[in-house]
Amino acid sequence: MKKLILALFCSAVSFSALAGGNVDNGKALADKYSCAACHGKDFNSPIDPSYPKLAGQHQDYLQHALTAYKRGDGANGRSNAIMTGQVKPLTNQDIKDIAAYLHSLPGSLVNHR
Ligand code: HEC
Repeated sequence: MKKLILALFCSAVSFSALAGGNVDNGKALADKYSCAACHGKDFNSPIDPSYPKLAGQHQDYLQHALTAYKRGDGANGRSNAIMTGQVKPLTNQDIKDIAAYLHSLPGSLVNHR
């Protein structure tokens, strides 16, 4: 049993390493670009109910969403006047790092079974 738990733990570690993304740099970028001004200081309490909560969302989903705003209108893109402007200065690595940071935060979103 112990071996199984250890194996599961190791695979979880290597998955997160594969996903990449530097949490500390992501936090610095989120601060620099004031993402919390709209999404809330803990990324759980947005200033408007139509603004999404970001804390604890899946890293790959956040990365995909931010990339979609960068693509803009069209295939696999998202067009939103506010977020299109926000992602403009971000590189792909910036997006990865921010997604890793937001994912690392304790979120209030839950899955109901
Ligand atoms: C001026 C307000 C504002 C700022 C600043 C802002 N956002 Fe947003 N964000 C929004 C709004 C509004 C939406 C919803 C847009 C939509 O409906 O597609 C959104 C959506 C998102 C989403 C999609 C979430 C989901 O569940 O699909 C992500 C990820 C995101 N923002 C990240 C960021 C990051 C990272 C920054 C800083 C670089 C940032 N936002 C700055 C207002 C803002």
